[in-house]
Amino acid sequence: MAYIKSPEEVNKIIEGGKIIGEILEKISLMVKPGISAWEIDQEAEKLIREAGGRPAFKNYRSYRGEPPFPSTICASVNEEVVHGIASKEKILKEGDIFSIDIGMQWPVNSGLGENGNGFFTDTAITIPVGEVSQKIKQLLSVTQESLEKGIAAAVVGNNIADIGKTIEDYIKPQGYGIVRDLVGHGVGHSVHEDPKVPNYYDQQLQKWDLHEGVVIAIEPMVTMGDYNVETAADGWSISTVDKSLSAHFEHTVVITKNGPIVATRRPSEKF
Ligand code: MF3
Ligand code: CO
Ligand code: CO
Repeated sequence: MAYIKSPEEVNKIIEGGKIIGEILEKISLMVKPGISAWEIDQEAEKLIREAGGRPAFKNYRSYRGEPPFPSTICASVNEEVVHGIASKEKILKEGDIFSIDIGMQWPVNSGLGENGNGFFTDTAITIPVGEVSQKIKQLLSVTQESLEKGIAAAVVGNNIADIGKTIEDYIKPQGYGIVRDLVGHGVGHSVHEDPKVPNYYDQQLQKWDLHEGVVIAIEPMVTMGDYNVETAADGWSISTVDKSLSAHFEHTVVITKNGPIVATRRPSEKF
């Protein structure tokens, strides 16, 4: 059961998660009409390095190989679901929604973790830029709430399939699309580990029991329209095919016998 982390490993993941939660909150406050994704990315990288970490996504290569991901944050606007590149040209405007996904390996050069550079945490949020419509606010709050429902299902005695089922049962009746091509995942020794954590029911995942010491990233991606997505010519940015808006919230969650611990909670979160 290599997917179970030791108490010492779990403690470091919780420590790192707290730091990246604070960093995500700080950079979220920069989101305003007129700012570029690149400016936010620069600040994110600076804060991560000052904290003794390294950006987990920068230079990350997917199993498909080329090209490496170029920025610290994934910066995805409107119909972009995830993996948007934080470029200078990506300037936020009033009425947009902006998803920031951020990952950190921490503490670097500590001798801890499988390669001596510590442990990985992963978290994301979608933020309105200026004023957005009630309909858009609803998409954001339903997506965030679905993450909380998924977290509440991450308890000993349940399995991975229960998490997806819980999220799907909450989202589906409200008429939104649930992205299927991208899923949550185990996390800690690397950005993506087994098991996969889909946001819909998958019977095959019943075999992954939630034991104490399991660490997963739960990350519902919810659309205003259809769930189909496609990758852009840059090789990374993933958008809805129908161009409908999409929201994404993510936390790194540790399963304990006293219930889930949300490692990446932001200071202002009330849950
Ligand atoms: N943060 C993404 C996830 O939640 C993975 C990003 S990999 C990148 O799983 F290379 F695109 F940054
Ligand atoms: Co992420
Ligand atoms: Co993730």
